[in-house]
Amino acid sequence: MKYARFGQREVSRLVLGSNNFGGQLDEESSIRIIRRALDAGINSIDTADVYTRGMSERVVGKALKGDREGVIVATKVGNQLAGWPEGADLSRKYIMHEVEQSLERLGTEYIDIYYMHRPDPVTPLEETLSAVDSLVREGKVRHVACSNFGVEQMERIAELQRSRGYRAFEAVQPQYNVVQSEAGRAILPYCARKGLTVFTYSPLMGGFLTGKYRAGAKPPEGSRGAYNPRFFQRVKSDSYYTAAERLAGIAREAGLSLPELALAWVLRDGSVTAPIVGASSPKHVEEACAVLDLNVPRSVFAEAEAAVSGL
Ligand SMILES: NC(=O)c1ccc[n+]([C@@H]2O[C@H](COP(=O)([O-])OP(=O)(O)OC[C@H]3O[C@@H](n4cnc5c(N)ncnc54)[C@H](OP(=O)(O)O)[C@@H]3O)[C@@H](O)[C@H]2O)c1
Repeated sequence: MKYARFGQREVSRLVLGSNNFGGQLDEESSIRIIRRALDAGINSIDTADVYTRGMSERVVGKALKGDREGVIVATKVGNQLAGWPEGADLSRKYIMHEVEQSLERLGTEYIDIYYMHRPDPVTPLEETLSAVDSLVREGKVRHVACSNFGVEQMERIAELQRSRGYRAFEAVQPQYNVVQSEAGRAILPYCARKGLTVFTYSPLMGGFLTGKYRAGAKPPEGSRGAYNPRFFQRVKSDSYYTAAERLAGIAREAGLSLPELALAWVLRDGSVTAPIVGASSPKHVEEACAVLDLNVPRSVFAEAEAAVSGL
């Protein structure tokens, strides 16, 4: 495993995602994947209160019993679990309620990284930031972070945190893969300028960049697409299938598999501290780890970018 700096600690250059744990995957299969990841040297797991309605956090907590100290556990708030009034995603009241639920489900006294899951257009920023700052002061949260926020929002947040003396966000979690690469334009350069740690999600576009889905064909049994038809909402047009086909061809010519090329692309220039990889079997974890040792020529990445640009 390779590692990068995260504050005073080292974080593995792959983070294990968990949005399928306790849902598409039962507890036993999920724990097997977590154990495989830890054995391979992955020392960070990304979950959220909302994943599989809290089951993901429970499974992660169970798998880490006895191993908690050595693992950087990230979870999120602000993507409504249920029953809370509209527009209160990042209200003080909701955060204070939800952090206790997350701690209980994870079976831990502290969360290493607490993400604001997405912007809440209703709650004043000041209210959210003072709430998460108090969680740091109480020792319930070690680092605060955000996911799915734009640069302008992050700049406003940083300014408020500075002026109020609140703990600043230390990590950012955008979506980033060779097809959905928008974060590369503004968010990643901003993070580099500010020295923010970047954990990106969906390097394989949730499995789409493995070649397992074909336009007009049923998704293969056992895949995320077969389990959750809403998966295809992210496939915005048929051009995505064209992108996957072209990328598979480029990968083949370079002697790679499509998931290898897709993950290597995210890791290619060091602008991402660690991609958050999903897996539905321990083999997927092993394959992802092997990508860290690949030496893919830059020309292959350039070809991949050219193949999907404008689609
Ligand atoms: N902050 C946010 O808003 C946000 C949003 C999405 C995700 N996330 C986080 O990021 C994590 C990763 O996202 P993701 O799950 O979309 O990541 P991903 O790495 O793009 O996709 C993972 C899925 O691809 C398939 N797969 C992986 N390796 C494979 C291989 N070698 N061959 C064939 N199929 C393979 C598996 O699905 P199958 O079931 O099809 O095998 C696996 O679950 C999530 O678990 C979550 O923690 C955060």
